[in-house]
This record gives sequence, structure tokens and C-alpha cells, in this order.
Amino acid sequence: MTGVRIRAAAHYLPSTVLDNHQISTWVDTTDEWIVKRTGVSERRISEGENTSDLCIQVGKQLLETSGINPEDIDMVLVATFTPDYGTPSVACLVQAELGATNAFAFDLSAACSGFVYGVSVAQKYLLTKQYKNILVIGADVLSKITDWSDRGSCILFGDGAGGVLLGADENALFAEKLYSRGDKVITGGFTKVVNPLTGMERGEYDFLKLDGREVFEFAVKEATANINEILEQTGMSIDDIDHIIPHQANGRIIEAIAKKLKTSLEKFYVNIQKYGNTSAASIPIALSEMFKNGTLKQGTGKKVILVGFGGGLTWGSVLLSI
Ligand code: UT7
Repeated sequence: MTGVRIRAAAHYLPSTVLDNHQISTWVDTTDEWIVKRTGVSERRISEGENTSDLCIQVGKQLLETSGINPEDIDMVLVATFTPDYGTPSVACLVQAELGATNAFAFDLSAACSGFVYGVSVAQKYLLTKQYKNILVIGADVLSKITDWSDRGSCILFGDGAGGVLLGADENALFAEKLYSRGDKVITGGFTKVVNPLTGMERGEYDFLKLDGREVFEFAVKEATANINEILEQTGMSIDDIDHIIPHQANGRIIEAIAKKLKTSLEKFYVNIQKYGNTSAASIPIALSEMFKNGTLKQGTGKKVILVGFGGGLTWGSVLLSI
């Protein structure tokens, strides 16, 4: 199968750092509990920048590092479930700001699996050969839908964005397996039908809610099985894979997946301590950091598996060569 090549990767985080000590002044928790149960020490929180603002910063960096002209971008895809507006989409706002006048742009909603779904969608467009340069950005400003009085969830999340410029490459590896299973284990942002016929009472805003235990078990079980399916599909063993880049939901979820796959935790990129769970942004932020710190270098042929899981429920993996 024709693969995709990452031509550039970038990320952007709000500058304000929110540490566990600060959260422990708002809800009944401690830094020790949060670090032990989640691996998170601090996260970035927006003081006003919205999802499109973060994505625009990522888009500008992608243009700069790749040297591509904005007019040569064929498609802008933003994976998010915390858009600025219902319409225009975040992707359209990014397109406008970048001057990507020949692109078409749309958002994709698959929560924490959004970036993996986005790479899969982009690969299909690239296969047609009609589209050559595609921006895939994953971004969420979860702080705006977090219930800051719920200690079971507010400790987990952070805001951020990351993205890649993708192009087709016949010599690059590509394999994927995506899933969803409609379930309300994680919900947020419900919009009530309010109109003159129903009465105009809007009620409270619907914050992010989740059954942490159930999500934890789902994530470990399905992400492990998902990675094994990719290996089976491609006839590879886990030892053939250089890096696994998992969605950063909880450090203990990543440790459990490594253990179930009987492989070293070293194979997994982990940065949850700094950023918490940034939803659709976590995998591209990790990818961008890996390019910046020299763990990944274009043209080396390293094999990486990206694995996402989250609300929907949704989950999925893609295998790429770098
Ligand atoms: O991207 C997908 C989105 N969702 C997730 O990634 C969530 C995945 N789940 C998790 O990360 C974990 O389930 C949590 C971190 C949310 C919770 O950890 P846990 O080890 O599953 O704890 P628990 O919910 O079973 O709670 C254990 C205890 C409870 O007290 P009791 O009933 O044993 O007395 C909770 O009330 O810990 C208590 N607890 C807390 N204590 C201090 C829950 N949250 C906190 C807290 N600080 N922040």
C-alpha cells in the first residue's frame, strides 16, 4: 500500500503551566496522588487562545520548516472535539490564516483518536494522486470543557496542538486498523435542543465526564490488541518496531500496554508528565518533539506505530516509516 511521508512536524502549547499543587488548592487531591496514578506533573492551560489559535501556530511552523508555499497545500484537516465554533470549522480558520487558498478544509471529530483517524483519511486522499500536500493537525483546548470541581477528571487534561505535513511516498510503509464502538463512557459538550417549541431554558453547560476505570481498562485491552493486529497484518514482530507513540492518557495505561506486549517501556514515547492528556494533540506533539530532539529523522526508515484511543469510543493504529 502506498505510504505517507511526514515532511514536517510541529507543535504549539500555551505558555501557562498549571501544576498539580495549584489544582490541589481547587479540589481534594495531592501532587503525590496525581503523579502516582496518572504520571502527570503539570500541563499547559490556555489563558484565552482558542483551538484555532493553537492550530494556526502549528500551521505556520509547518510552512516554515517545510518551505512549502501556502498555495500548494491541497487539504487542511483538523482533528478536534473542542472547536472554536460549530461553523466555521477550525480547519477553515487555519486555511484562511495561512493563505492556503487552493486547499479544502474540514474538521474531524474522533476525540483522542482524532489524529490517527486524520492520518488515515489523509492517506486515502494522497492515494488518489489528486492531492499532494496535506496538513493534518490534532488540537484540543480541553480546559474550556473541563469540570474544574471534579477531581476524577480535571487532573488529567491539558491544552495543546500538534501537526504534520504529509505527502505520498510509494516506498513508505503504511498499515492501519481503526475502530469505533458507540458508547457514552466519555461525554462532553452535549447541546440540548432549545427552540421556541421546546421552551428556551438552556440549562448548565455540559462538561467532560468519564468513567475513568472503564476507560482505563478499555484503553489497555484495545490498544494492545490493536497494535498486535498491525503486527499480524504486516508480518512484523514487536522487535521490528522502533517506536510506539501512544495517546498520552495515563502513564499507567502506557506501562500496562508495554507489559502486555512483552516489550520495553523504552519503545514508547512518553511526555505525559509535562502536558497531561491533550486529546487529539498528544500524538502529533510527541511526533514533533521526537523530530526536534533527534529521536526521529526523515529518511531513516524507522518504523513507528501511532496508537490512539478515547471518546466515541474510538481507537486505532497506523504504522508509518519515517
Ligand atoms: O483519553 C481518554 C480519556 N480518559 C482517560 O484517559 C481516563 C483513564 N482513566 C484514568 O486515567 C484513571 O482511571 C483515573 C486517573 C481517572 C483514576 O485513577 P484510578 O486508579 O482508576 O482511581 P479510581 O477512579 O478507581 O479511584 C480510586 C480512589 C477513589 O477513592 P476510594 O473510593 O477508593 O476512597 C477516588 O475517589 O481515588 C480517589 N480519587 C482521588 N483521590 C485523590 C479519584 N480522583 C482522585 C484525585 N485525588 N484526583
